[in-house]
Order: sequence, then structure tokens, then C-alpha cells
Amino acid sequence: MKPSHSSSIFRVTTLLSPLLLVAFIISAAIFYCSDFCYISGLQGHDDETTNRTISAPQKTRSSKLAFAIGEGKRGCDLFSGKWVRDYGRPLYEEWECPYLEPQLTCQEHGRPEKDYRYWRWQPHGCSIPSFNATLMLEALRGKRMMFVGDSLNRGQYTSLICLLHRIIPQNAKTMEVIDSVTVFTAKDYSATIEFYWAPFLLESNADDPFKHRVTDRIVRNGSIDKHGDHWKGADILVFNTYIWWISGLRVLRGSFEDEVKDIVEIAKEDAYRIAMKSLVKWINKNIDPENTRVLFTSMSPTHQWSYKWGGDPKGNCYNETIMIQNPNYFGAEESLMHVATEELNKSTVPITFLNITHLSSARKDAHTSIYKQPWGPLTKEQLANPKSYADCIHWCLPGLQDIWNELLFSKLFYP
Ligand SMILES: *[C@@H]1O[C@H](CO)[C@@H](O)[C@H](O)[C@H]1NC(C)=O
Ligand SMILES: *[C@@H]1O[C@H](CO)[C@@H](O)[C@H](O)[C@H]1NC(C)=O
Ligand SMILES: *[C@@H]1O[C@H](CO)[C@@H](O)[C@H](O)[C@H]1NC(C)=O
Ligand SMILES: *[C@@H]1O[C@H](CO)[C@@H](O)[C@H](O)[C@H]1NC(C)=O
Ligand SMILES: *[C@@H]1O[C@H](CO)[C@@H](O)[C@H](O)[C@H]1NC(C)=O
Repeated sequence: MKPSHSSSIFRVTTLLSPLLLVAFIISAAIFYCSDFCYISGLQGHDDETTNRTISAPQKTRSSKLAFAIGEGKRGCDLFSGKWVRDYGRPLYEEWECPYLEPQLTCQEHGRPEKDYRYWRWQPHGCSIPSFNATLMLEALRGKRMMFVGDSLNRGQYTSLICLLHRIIPQNAKTMEVIDSVTVFTAKDYSATIEFYWAPFLLESNADDPFKHRVTDRIVRNGSIDKHGDHWKGADILVFNTYIWWISGLRVLRGSFEDEVKDIVEIAKEDAYRIAMKSLVKWINKNIDPENTRVLFTSMSPTHQWSYKWGGDPKGNCYNETIMIQNPNYFGAEESLMHVATEELNKSTVPITFLNITHLSSARKDAHTSIYKQPWGPLTKEQLANPKSYADCIHWCLPGLQDIWNELLFSKLFYP
């Protein structure tokens, strides 16, 4: 069952209208904070959803997937379910995980309540297996696992390290940052779990892992090998890319070294499709599905406009402590979700789609909001109006992203 949405997706490449150009300049000016920090003032227009049916990019089980040790219950969609209270959570405490960046530790930064931490995801048709760190580290023995993408993927990476590191003695693990790569090493297992910063996957002018606060973001068409060369040899790859595509962005046709640069504005759906096509092409050229697993984490929803869920007309995720009850609320750009599923579906190498967008869309309570170390100094005006600097993109840890990793664990070992 596949809806026809070609009309919205195969939009003709358009030049910016003057109005859009103004919007672009404004958003580019606001948008220069790293990792899309506090951009509550920005148009993200997360589409509310009425009717969505997207065919899942799943392959028929012709052969066993690498790392699989069992099978999930047939016909059970892990991503279709409900949130259930669980006071056995969280799976670890902030103070137990030294790898948490200060942008993620909400309790340490004064969040007054902990409700957001006491939830687990319950699929309708089955249960998620318990996360087993021993099992995962054994499976990673002598292997290399790599997350590739933006700060949201880095959050998921950090969550996974927090879930795994506890069973490794202090002197048998290291964490180091080398340019674009963060490497966690479990020495006794000869295993590494890495994060590679590539917010667009393609080559872009935001690739500097530390100084990527660019106002005018440019992505180079088709240039995936620049980063892709560094992903070769990984045994498990977990990709994501989304948030950087949804505001003003331009596409470079030649190289960044060209004296006269050929740069075009295209619709974000078309730009995102370039990335998805390039990714699929790279995977099919470089991945041996017998030995390697590839996963793609779907778009992480944002909660920057409370009117979208029927809340305060001027609010955002700030001061939100309960989740959205409307099961149809969708906190991301649906058109891009279509593009991702449509293109990833074309891959002959299986790509496991971690469909976290819908289940996370309810979680307006789970963002870091103002309870984090800000990316830069706050002004008096901001301090007087906390919602103006609330981060409604990233998530507190422990929290929602631990559940993404339980789903990853499940899909990796029991697909
Ligand atoms: C991809 O989409 C087509 C068209 O909807 C569908 O028939 C097919 O099963 C999908 N393929 C995979 C591998 O999901
Ligand atoms: C993702 O999960 C939601 C919720 O179960 C479902 O409605 C949607 O069709 C799924 N999308 C894909 C691409 O699997
Ligand atoms: C976790 O996995 C290990 C290794 O496969 C196994 O021996 C152990 O029983 C598992 N623990 C639980 C609680 O299932
Ligand atoms: C990007 O490259 C592809 C393949 O070379 C080409 O078909 C497409 O037109 C290019 N897109 C833009 C915006 O230049
Ligand atoms: C936060 O929400 C509570 C309950 O809805 C409300 O009573 C309180 O005034 C809000 N606080 C701020 C600072 O907006």
C-alpha cells in the first residue's frame, strides 16, 4: 500500500521567490547556532498529520542479516505501540555516565521534575527484548560500530555508550575525539563504537565538528565519498540526517575549491532526495550485507510551536511535563519522511529503518528545554523569558533516546 505523493515530492526545482529569500536570510541569521541549539524562534513547520501510510523499507527475509541471533515476532511492528509508565526506569542515572555532554544532563541543570524518565515503549503486537549490554559487547568483539550524522545521532550514540559502559572496568575503556570522529574503545573486546560528524552526510560547509555554526549552509551535490571513505570497514553503521535540511540551504554543483561556484536553491525535498540517493548508492557500492548491518534512524521530531498540538499559541516545549495525547500528532516534515522511505526502499542492501519519528512525536516533555548548558552566553532578555532559549530539538539523557537504542538492539539482534 503506497500512497501517491509524487505531486508534492517531484516538485520542479524552483528559484527562491523574493519572499522566501527574505525568510531565508532571516532564518540563516537566526540559525547559526551549532547543532540547532535554541532555535525556538524559527520556522520548522512540523506538519500535523491527518493520514499517513508509508510503506516500510523492509526487505523480505531471504537470508539472515549480519548480527541477527533470532527473529522478531512475525507481523509485529515494533514502532506501532504506546507509552507505558515504568518506575523501573531510567536505565542508568546521569551521574553513572561520565560521557554525557552538559547539553544533555537535564537534572544537573535544574530540571525540577523527573516524570519524563519513567516511560517505556510498548509495541502493540509484542514486547521489546531487554537491553543486554553483555550480549551487545560480545557481538561487537573485534568489531567497529559507527554512528554517522548530526547532533541527534550523537545523542543516540552517547545513550548507547551509557547503556554499555557500566559492565566495562574503568581501565578497560577509553573515549577520544579525533577530528570528526569520537571513538569509544572497549579494550578487552577490541571493539570500538564511534560517532562521525556529518550533519548532511554529504560534504558541506558545516562539516567542521567544532565550528559548524555557518549562516549560509551549502551542501555539495553527490559528494558522499568525502565522508564515506571514513565509514568503510565499519561492521554496523547507523545513519541519520534531517534537521539541517529543513531550513534555508543551497546546493553546490561543483567543488568547494572552484573559483566561481555554481550554487542553486532547490526545494528541501529535492535536496534531501539527493542525500538519500547518494546514501543508497554508497551503501550498495561499499557494503557487504553478509557481514555488515546498516540502519537508518528516521527524523527526530521537534516541539517548537505549541499551537501545533493545541497548546499556548506562543509557547514551545518549555515547561512541558506531559506528552501529547493525540496519537496522530507528527512532529516532523512528512514530505521528507516520504522521501526517505521511498529512496531507502530502493536499496538492494537491506537498510533497517528505525522508525522513531511517530513514537517520539508525542514526547514534548522529553526535550532538554532550558535545562542544559547553553551553547553560548545568554542575554538578559533571554534570561527574562526562558522559553526564548529552550532547546526543543535535543533530548534529555537518560531519556527518550535510550528507548531508541532498545529498538536498535531489538532490530539488530532480533530483526
Ligand atoms: C518498496 O515500495 C514498493 C512500492 O510500494 C513496494 O511494493 C515494495 O514492497 C517496497 N520494497 C521494499 C523492499 O520495502
Ligand atoms: C512508522 O511507524 C508509524 C507508527 O506505527 C506508522 O504509522 C508508519 O507507517 C511507520 N512508517 C514506516 C515508514 O514504517
Ligand atoms: C545477556 O546476554 C548474555 C550473553 O548472551 C547471557 O549470558 C545473559 O544471560 C543475558 N542476560 C539476560 C539478563 O538475559
Ligand atoms: C546533482 O547531481 C545529479 C547527478 O549528477 C544530477 O542529476 C542533478 O541534476 C544534480 N542536482 C543539482 C541540483 O545540481
Ligand atoms: C508551567 O506550567 C504550569 C502548569 O501548566 C503552570 O501552572 C505554570 O505557570 C507554568 N510556568 C511557567 C513559568 O510558565
